[in-house]
Amino acid sequence: MDETRVLTRNIREGREPVWRAEYEAAGGWEAFKKTLAELKPTEVGELVKEAGLRGRGGAGFPTGMKWSFMPRFEERPEERPAHVYLVINADEMEPGTFKDRLLMEGDPHQLIEAMAISSYAIGADIAYVFLRGEYVECQRRLQKAIDEATEAGYLGNDILGSGYNLKIYLHMSAGRYICGEESALLSALEGRRAVPRHKPPFPAASGLFGQPTTVNNVETICNVPHIVSNGADWYKQLGAHKDGGTKLFGASGHVNRPGLAEMPLGTRMGDLLEHFGGIREGRRLKALLPGGGSTPLLTADHLDTPMDYEGVGAAGSRLGTGTMVVMDETTPIVGVLKNLEHFYAQESCGWCTPCRDGLPWVERILTNLEAGKGHPGDIELLELHTKLLGPGKTFCAHAPGAMGPLESGLKYFRDELAALIPDDSDTLSLTEPANTASNSQV
Ligand SMILES: Cc1cc2nc3c(=O)[nH]c(=O)nc-3n(C[C@H](O)[C@H](O)[C@H](O)COP(=O)(O)O)c2cc1C
Ligand code: SF4
Repeated sequence: MDETRVLTRNIREGREPVWRAEYEAAGGWEAFKKTLAELKPTEVGELVKEAGLRGRGGAGFPTGMKWSFMPRFEERPEERPAHVYLVINADEMEPGTFKDRLLMEGDPHQLIEAMAISSYAIGADIAYVFLRGEYVECQRRLQKAIDEATEAGYLGNDILGSGYNLKIYLHMSAGRYICGEESALLSALEGRRAVPRHKPPFPAASGLFGQPTTVNNVETICNVPHIVSNGADWYKQLGAHKDGGTKLFGASGHVNRPGLAEMPLGTRMGDLLEHFGGIREGRRLKALLPGGGSTPLLTADHLDTPMDYEGVGAAGSRLGTGTMVVMDETTPIVGVLKNLEHFYAQESCGWCTPCRDGLPWVERILTNLEAGKGHPGDIELLELHTKLLGPGKTFCAHAPGAMGPLESGLKYFRDELAALIPDDSDTLSLTEPANTASNSQV
């Protein structure tokens, strides 16, 4: 199956980036010029709403609707706060996810132009890219693109004589998974401890430094210039199922050709796997995480699933970041779950008890099961944790996300997990001391 290259149209083998002259020769920065010359800020928002663009950071929230929550000051400029912000979430720490890196390394001007249009649409005068700390090459390339754009007059004061002002800054994360949660990200950007904030107030009312703010994912925003250039109807028809547009899908794990591919949203899961070369060594699919580590597992029974928000939702999981982690039939599911819960336990910010204490407990039970030291009642105890750490029980979506693979693992592979409990074991699970390095302080 061929790719539909919209966001990746300029990205070359080897990721040697397209700099300004080449980007402009391919039509780059024209969407921003058109925006400033022909569209009011709210009209850009309406266009994005009509196109049906949904957030690519994991939750799939409609982008145009998110922008419409921003207060408008065109009619009352005297009430405009000191600054209005756009913050781009480039933290990308979700296990198995590596899509935003490709966009930033391969076509840095696309993101900077997209930020310029989006900032104009929401009335922002300052925009940040909050970058994963390890992405130093992205930092280098984005900074060069910002410098080139400033030199060309696309950023700065009175841009292209329009009266619009915008500055873009990069911020390197100190490096925790929770920094990707949008309100923790804003705290980190302010130089404070990266823990989630209570909502309301939502960032549109009180975000970065208490000012109106929108947080969007890299891939989400990269769609915007193409919507402005080609229109909402063009964008909608790119999708293959309910949602419009394309998606950077990925595959890692037990496929023959791991990597990324831009395909219509709603492409059949089985076709995507085929595109990535099928399951390695001619084996069969056992399970996959459809959109990163915090999305519930699906199995070979779901190969007909359309990979968009509705399709994956109807199959009992989430599209998440659209980057699949694939496991063949030889993979012990207990090891998959243990590795994931180890990560999420380590990355808990410690702000609320169910997550801080529950995740290490889950990891400990899975570690014992894997080592053949499980006890009767362990499966029920894991099940109980999926309820205690589920939606609405914790301060942010970290713990419910971590419970996604566990709950689905129990649903599809309960017998395999239960069979790990030795016949002669007693029921000491609740009091057994920790036996892993990460649990030694629990
Ligand atoms: C624990 C946690 C980690 C997250 N990490 C990321 C991330 O690395 N990148 C991202 O874009 N969104 C991440 N999100 C989602 C953001 O909170 C937010 O929904 C997103 O950046 C909004 O952008 P979008 O509407 O364009 O998708 C995370 C959420 C949670 C709960
Ligand atoms: S759910 Fe976990 S990561 Fe989120 S606030 Fe609570 S302790 Fe922190």
